[in-house]
This record gives sequence, structure tokens and C-alpha cells, in this order.
Amino acid sequence: MNQDFLIQVGAILDSKYVLTEDADKAPYLTDWRNRFTGRALAVLLPSTSAEVAAIVKLCANTKTAIVPQGGNTGLCGGATPDQSGKQVILSLKRMKQIREIDVANQTISLEAGCILQTIQEKAAEKGFLFPLSLGAEGSCMIGGNLATNAGGTNVLRYGSTRDLCLGLEVVTANGEIWNGMKGLRKDNTGYDLRDLYVGSEGTLGIITAAVMKLYPLPISQWTTLVATQDISSTIALLNLFQQRATSLLTGFEMMTKESLTLIDKHFPQMANPLKGSPPFTILIELSDHESEDHVKQLLEAILEEALESELITDAVIASNLSQANSFWHMREHITLAQAQEGANLKHDITIPLSALDRFISETDALIKAKYPGIRIINFGHLGDGNLHYNVAPPEGVDFKAFNAANEKPVHELIYSQVELCNGSISAEHGVGQLKIDELRAHKGEVAHELMKSIKKALDPQNILNPRKVLSI
Ligand code: FAD
Ligand code: MLT
Ligand code: ZN
Repeated sequence: MNQDFLIQVGAILDSKYVLTEDADKAPYLTDWRNRFTGRALAVLLPSTSAEVAAIVKLCANTKTAIVPQGGNTGLCGGATPDQSGKQVILSLKRMKQIREIDVANQTISLEAGCILQTIQEKAAEKGFLFPLSLGAEGSCMIGGNLATNAGGTNVLRYGSTRDLCLGLEVVTANGEIWNGMKGLRKDNTGYDLRDLYVGSEGTLGIITAAVMKLYPLPISQWTTLVATQDISSTIALLNLFQQRATSLLTGFEMMTKESLTLIDKHFPQMANPLKGSPPFTILIELSDHESEDHVKQLLEAILEEALESELITDAVIASNLSQANSFWHMREHITLAQAQEGANLKHDITIPLSALDRFISETDALIKAKYPGIRIINFGHLGDGNLHYNVAPPEGVDFKAFNAANEKPVHELIYSQVELCNGSISAEHGVGQLKIDELRAHKGEVAHELMKSIKKALDPQNILNPRKVLSI
């Protein structure tokens, strides 16, 4: 059977694009965090939508499960195969054509394997901003961004990947190509198939291309780091910026003292320019299409008001682009610093801003009481109510042993608190294989059953990324 499959796939792809040797497959078999490792019959590397369609048809005929993969930077194990060795990985990385930049329509049509940073650069060459931005942008791909509905640091102003997507091309579970490559801002022709595929993590179809929105490039950007003492003044500060700067506010990221302790330890060259390790360091960015002076004066005026009303205790405005970049590097290196420290227990959650103060104070207290000495590495996209509320064992305690004994109860404690606050257990990273049980427990019975019905309707043989998102 396996041999049959490989012979038939040889009629679709040149043998150099069918990886079967262990050494060739290895880079595709483990996720970015080294949390999951699987086995695969082969890694397939098509270069056109027609090849993807032919592969899916073959998989449908032979009931072979497919795990789609982009840049393999996902944080929930969605792109990692199971242990059976019978699944195939379908990597989209050779599909990297930019099909068109439509200047009048302010859109870009491109294939799933385009790397996010390359898209940003190509858009900028034409005077446009492609606003999706995240720490993994040098290697994640637009197909993966769409499949996970990635968020990142610009959601506050431009929305998540779903909000940036106007059209899609998708290979369905029976190997047909759905051409939904329309660059329309309005289209009410029945059920929204595009929005169904966005965020489906490879379980409903293979995204092969997309039409994405572009925006004018801002001509001036000002970035500041400010110190706050508690979460309620941080939220009041966010509201102040939202009122005064409205759509010029493009970033509002929060880093706790404990998060920056990891930066000090693993990337000491990126030290926080704010003195005295404040409880909260907030990175704020304003962007404008008018002169530099306008946005700078606005930023200074808001900071002055915030100082006077004691919402902040200190502030540093980046004096040039390189200092602004260094502020962002410090923020974006928290993930890497955590990885170097050890595999902590990750929670990517959203809480309504009005409940955030309660969530943090109650949850911090509950966890610290149950696990004395525990480290809460809390940071994230505060402007979106999105916390990366991660938990690491006390200094000196082995991560593996701590996680093995406490992973489930720690998750359950935090996710119960999330539910009490009417939040979500996955803000932007998705579900993958990491959060299947938690999704079932917290999504709600009706919603979970509806999701299963959609999966069965679109993938009746269950060949697309089985046991990801749902346990089927
Ligand atoms: P992969 O990891 O390859 O795949 C992710 C999922 O999508 C899998 O389920 C896979 O099967 C499916 N998939 C991939 N391509 C396709 C396709 N063409 N069709 C159908 N299904 C497909 N995420 C955020 O949201 N915000 C952040 O700020 C953020 N920062 C990060 C920082 C770092 C340092 C790292 C390592 C990750 C970060 N992530 C973040 C997570 C990750 O980068 C995103 O989830 C990203 O969108 C994944 O893209 P990828 O191409 O690597 O997808
Ligand atoms: C981030 O905001 O830095 C990312 O989502 C990655 C992470 O949560 O570690
Ligand atoms: Zn994030």
C-alpha cells in the first residue's frame, strides 16, 4: 500500500520533491517548540495548485491522511504528523509566486508558500503596507498565517489575518480547486466559505493562494516604552491612547517584569531602557500618514497627560528607527528567551479588557497559592486583550518533571478562570493537537457539535489533518 502510494505520487511529482529518507524528512517532523515529533510516509513538495489537487485526489482514493505545512512555526503542533508513519506532509513552500499586486484595488494575490516578510517587502516596494507582523515573520508563510488566522502586533489597528483576507483558492478534500480569488470588499452570496477555511488549521481544505488587503505605507512612526505599576492603570492608559490617538495607535504591547527578567538573562544586550524594572513595561507605537511632527507632538502630549494623571511612572521615546527597532526586538525576543529557559506551559488567551484586571489578580493569586515559587511569564498584545499567560516552574526546578506532574491542572485552573471572564482559550495560535481536549471542554457543546458537522461535511473521509482542532 505504502509502496503503491509512492509509485502513484511519482506520476504527479518529480522524485526529488517526494522525500522519503529519514534525514530529508526530519526537519518537517518536529514543531518549532520541540513539543511534538511525529513520523511520516513522505514529505511532498508540489509547486502548483494543480499538483496539490492531484495529490489530494490520490490521498482521497487511497485514504491517506495529509498534514499541510507552511513555515512550521506554529505553536500548537498543528503541522506535525502523528506517530503512525502513514500520514503524508504536504509542504506548500515551493508555491511562492506573487501573482499580482493590484495598485488600484490595493490588493496582493499570492501563493500559500510566500514568506510573510517577503510579502511585507514586496508590498513596501510598491508603496504599500502589508500589516500582518509577528516574531516568526522571517519563516512563517501566508498559507500558515491564514490557516491559523494569525494575529501579531498590528491587530489593534488592522485586524487579524482573517480581516486582511478578501479571497482564497482552496483544494478541497476530494481534490477539487475552489477558485474564490476575488478582491472584493463586499460579497454577500450566501455562506462565507472564505471565513470557514481561514483558521481551520488544515482540517477543511488546503489553502493554495489568497487575495490580501494592502494599506498605504505610514510615513512616520513613533515608538515609546512606558512604565506602569498595575494593570488597571495600564488599561486606563490604553483607553487614553484610543481616545486621543484613535486610528494612529498601531501597537500596544505589555511585558511584565518577570518576562523581561528572561530577556535580561538570555539576551542581556537587549536590556530594558526603563530604569528600576517596573512591574509593567508597555510598548506603544503611533503611525501616521502626515508629517513626523504631528505624530510626535501628539505622542508627547498623551504621555504628559498620562504622567500628570499618574497612569505611568516613566517613559522613553525612541529617538530614531534603530532605537525603535531595539524596543520591538526586546518584545519579540521573549518567545526565544522562554524557549532557552525551558518549555514552559503556554496559554494564549483573550479576556475582555473590562475583566482583565480581575483575571490577572485572581489567577495570579490562585496559581501562586497552589504552586509556591512558580513564575508567571505574562506578556502579550494587551490592546487586543490577548495575554501570553505562561507558567514556568520555580527557579532551579526541572521543567520536564514539573510539566509532567502539573500540566493538566495548571491548564484547567487558568482556562476555568478564562471561562469565568467570558474569554477564549486560544486568541491567535489556534488549537492544533495541543488544545483539543480544552477546546472540547470550553467551546460549548452546541458549538463543538456544529464544528464536527462542518468537518464531516467538508472532509467526509477525514483525510485532512485528522485529530487536529477536533479529536476526530
Ligand atoms: P505552520 O506551522 O506550518 O502550520 C500551522 C497550521 O496551519 C497547521 O495546522 C498546518 O497544518 C496548517 N497549514 C499550514 N499551511 C497551510 C495551508 N496552506 N493550507 C491549509 N493548512 C495549512 N502567532 C500569532 O498569531 N501571533 C504572533 O505574534 C506569533 N508570534 C510568533 C513568534 C514566534 C517566535 C514563533 C515561533 C511563532 C509565533 N506565532 C505567532 C505562531 C506562528 O508563527 C503562526 O501561527 C503562523 O501563522 C504559522 O505559520 P506557518 O507557515 O509556520 O504555519
Ligand atoms: C508573541 O506574541 O510573541 C507570540 O504570539 C509568541 C508567543 O506567544 O510566544
Ligand atoms: Zn502573540
